[in-house]
Amino acid sequence: MTKEYLLQNFNNIKDLPLANRVVMAPMTRSRANNEGNVPTDDLHGLYYEQRASAGLIITEGSQVSKQAVGYINTPGIYSKEQVEGWKKVTARVHKKQGKIFIQLWHVGRISHPDFHNGKLPLAPSAINANAKVFTPNGEKDTVTPKAMTTEDIKQTIEDFKNAALNAVEANFDGIEIHSSNGYLFHQFFNKTSNTRTDEYGGSIENRARFFFEVLDAIKEVIAEKKIGVRFNPSLHGIFGMEMDEETIPTFEYIIKKLNDYNLAYIHLSEPFNDVSDVSYAVEHIAEHFRPLYHGTLMINAGFDEASGNTVLEEGYADLVAFGKLFISNPDLVERFALDKEMADWDTDTFYVPGSKGYTDYPRVTPELNNIESNS
Ligand SMILES: Cc1cc2nc3c(=O)[nH]c(=O)nc-3n(C[C@H](O)[C@H](O)[C@H](O)COP(=O)(O)O)c2cc1C
Repeated sequence: MTKEYLLQNFNNIKDLPLANRVVMAPMTRSRANNEGNVPTDDLHGLYYEQRASAGLIITEGSQVSKQAVGYINTPGIYSKEQVEGWKKVTARVHKKQGKIFIQLWHVGRISHPDFHNGKLPLAPSAINANAKVFTPNGEKDTVTPKAMTTEDIKQTIEDFKNAALNAVEANFDGIEIHSSNGYLFHQFFNKTSNTRTDEYGGSIENRARFFFEVLDAIKEVIAEKKIGVRFNPSLHGIFGMEMDEETIPTFEYIIKKLNDYNLAYIHLSEPFNDVSDVSYAVEHIAEHFRPLYHGTLMINAGFDEASGNTVLEEGYADLVAFGKLFISNPDLVERFALDKEMADWDTDTFYVPGSKGYTDYPRVTPELNNIESNS
């Protein structure tokens, strides 16, 4: 029988002992359908509590400001009411001995004037992503965004810092910077979306500058060991991202530089689609980046119990994040431990309001503390 690497505890993140190596990946679920985009106790609180046996939960992307939004009904982490809402969520998870980070999000150009009183969304350069967005008035095409001024950049850095402060106030165990999946930071990294001629564009170092300025601002208010960062280096043809010959070198530069920080982890995604015919892409992300980074590496995308155990056994990652499996299997860890079948998820209820497809997936196992651990 395969040794259950996923069920081993993990003590390499200082002051953050994890009961196992199964992480709940960040997933937008669009249940904050109230005026202030506030997470609620009976929906968000219950949903995350049901999944608290994960070694670590990373919440859905949560906008750091009004400007940062690009999807309907996503929760924020900029207002007092939102902080109060999140406090209820963290209390429920902590009561079950769980650990929870909040994902800090700015969508950049993956937004629409309908969210901003008719004003343009912000991005590094005025280049349309040619993607779709779900606005309060239905699905629409993205528009050409406004190129951020230096003042806009400064304000956004402040917004992230303030959101991190709010996360501390809401008793999160840490934060994850959403520097992935074609959103604002990724738009800065990539040459096709960033054609700036100032210190934030041109060279690899310049395109990474905004990310490091945000990271440096955040670590003024929360310890480095409580900060995770997420990247999707081989994202191509999705959310307007096009790879080029400098894309992988840009991520190599960033990830090597992150060795100078004492972060909780870096969280990488394997390619979301087939990139075998994209000459610039790296097909095996964990294998490629593991030798470059000396800290904790979390890997995601497309894993199941068997492949999750294998990637840990091979030493390409320390933690594995599971997305969709966690939607339909709240007791995912216990199901792994007891070899139970996996329930399928319903894509129709991924982003709709209410409890259906959210808090109504049943557990089929006893709670983890009744199961003998084999670590
Ligand atoms: C419904 C849904 C919402 C998602 N929302 C986010 C998000 O808010 N932030 C993020 O970084 N990734 C998001 N993702 C991507 C997941 O974190 C993960 O990378 C993806 O589901 C692949 O992992 P899996 O194969 O284990 O599901 C989302 C995925 C799904 C299915």
